[in-house]
Amino acid sequence: MKIQEAKYVMSNSDYEKCPPPDMPEYAFIGRSNVGKSSVINMLTGKKSLAKTSQQPGKTQLINHFEINNAWYLVDLPGYGYAKVSKAEREKWEKMIGDYLHNRENLVCIFVLVDIRHSALAADLEFMAGLGEAGLPFHIIFTKADKLKAYQVDIQVAAYSKKLAELWEEIPPLFVTSAEKNEGREPILKAIETYNDTFSANKK
Ligand code: GTP
Ligand code: MG
Repeated sequence: MKIQEAKYVMSNSDYEKCPPPDMPEYAFIGRSNVGKSSVINMLTGKKSLAKTSQQPGKTQLINHFEINNAWYLVDLPGYGYAKVSKAEREKWEKMIGDYLHNRENLVCIFVLVDIRHSALAADLEFMAGLGEAGLPFHIIFTKADKLKAYQVDIQVAAYSKKLAELWEEIPPLFVTSAEKNEGREPILKAIETYNDTFSANKK
């Protein structure tokens, strides 16, 4: 799929104020600083579409980007950032939970994990929550440039093994490096397939 147009639409804290749910939507979520905003920029080919930062906790709202006038990418705040207060964290959790559970055009969620880490409880718990709610998700490994190719394979195999212990069927896995602009096509292909199904169901 070619990205012809990628534009920022709006940011807000309330899913009910998001754009009308008339186009398929894909949300990017994961621990703070994992590289969500960077992957969105890589996918759209626009370096500063979503704001990135070396400091965790950069993205704080539900951010909508409209692609090709046909679908939405959504950049979400990260979870698991230790430096925010409990009250702040609970506010974020409610905002994200309400969005994920109520957004009717949300087709699939991409959960991002840092390829360098073994499966973290916070991520596995988050995925378990999605599974319980019947929300489909895929996993994107980020920052693959930080490891050698053989180490990437080892990490993916170990993660798959862990997932296989927890799930009957493991979700699709994608390996990316926003730094090296790698891993873009398979993700766009998956989105394209979902988009086709979404419009077929609408007819
Ligand atoms: P929050 O919005 O704070 O939750 O973070 P985020 O998940 O959106 O992460 P962001 O995209 O802002 O990236 C965090 C840091 O990781 C930035 O310094 C990025 O440059 C860096 N980063 C992101 N992706 C990659 C990657 O593929 N490779 C490398 N080496 N660094 C990356
Ligand atoms: Mg971000």
